[in-house]
Amino acid sequence: MRIGNLKIDFPVFLAPMAGVTDHSFRILCKEKGAGLVYSEFVSAHGIIRENEKTLDMIRFVEAERPIGIQIFGDSPEVMAKAARMVYDKFKPDLIDINYGCPVPKVTKKGAGSAALKDLCLMDDITSAVVEAVRKIPVTVKMRAGWDSNNIVSTEAGPRLEKIGVKAIALHPRTTKQSYKGNANWDWIRELKEAVTVPVIGNGDIKTPGDILRMVKETGCDAVMVARAALGNPWFFEQANNILNGNKIIPGPTTKDKIFTCNRHLDLLIQTRGERTGTNLMRKHFGWYIKGFAGASTLRQSLVTAKDFTEMTAFLARAMDSIQKNNTEPLSYP
Ligand SMILES: Cc1cc2nc3c(=O)[nH]c(=O)nc-3n(C[C@H](O)[C@H](O)[C@H](O)COP(=O)(O)O)c2cc1C
Repeated sequence: MRIGNLKIDFPVFLAPMAGVTDHSFRILCKEKGAGLVYSEFVSAHGIIRENEKTLDMIRFVEAERPIGIQIFGDSPEVMAKAARMVYDKFKPDLIDINYGCPVPKVTKKGAGSAALKDLCLMDDITSAVVEAVRKIPVTVKMRAGWDSNNIVSTEAGPRLEKIGVKAIALHPRTTKQSYKGNANWDWIRELKEAVTVPVIGNGDIKTPGDILRMVKETGCDAVMVARAALGNPWFFEQANNILNGNKIIPGPTTKDKIFTCNRHLDLLIQTRGERTGTNLMRKHFGWYIKGFAGASTLRQSLVTAKDFTEMTAFLARAMDSIQKNNTEPLSYP
């Protein structure tokens, strides 16, 4: 598929996730076949202030391409300046605008999904960003509307397309819904019928089979996966298999999980340093270490490990136990 001038080989993408889709996780998902990965959402104000921590969220390596950098903000001028700076400094493959974040801290300032309440503001922000970044595609990720009485995605789609957006990702829940209830895929189908640019369906893809179902039911051009990828970069491998018409391949073994935890931790430490990397890894353990005998004890040990040395010792002991006995790890002090 193509998004503007960008060619993408595989239509299953890793969705942007704050606190999750940093360099380490993007690399792991990319290796398993994600067709496109995104940064976490990055504050336009932070970018224009050249805040180092903000800029660190944008840094990526060539192996992560194609990559989209997602930005959020409340003002057309600031968003345009930020988009231009991201392009000039980092040259990502696309810039994505966040019109989906439901977090009050963000929406109270008029950013994220607050734009769903004011499509004129959405037009202004989008035009400013499209004007500012001419060489790579600008895309949008949105929710369906602010609340169930105000579903705007089908109206916003053609407006965004006219302004020059090259693809639209839709998470078909409202801001008020947050994550409650089901994603309403009918809204993805309606959007697809209303625009000619690619539509990226998102929401409640829990199994690789759901991808086929979403494409069939909505006609969307690609799908974007968030929660199903947590602790599970293998999701993309399974998706590749099923989309190529093959039978679903088994998920990761316990050994795969332990090995990948080690790599994830190493990648985090390379970019974030030992202390922060170790702390960030704790939540990932919660996602990786499940579904096998002894998982809850191992998970508990890893999540509460006092430092990097203890963490890697627990992982090494788990791996030893699997290799020696060809069994699952059982208990940890
Ligand atoms: C931990 C977490 C962080 C998220 N952060 C972002 C974000 O930074 N930008 C964004 O557009 N969506 C964000 N989302 C929303 C997801 O990209 C996605 O739209 C939503 O989870 C629905 O997809 P799913 O059912 O595959 O999880 C986040 C979701 C989660 C679970």
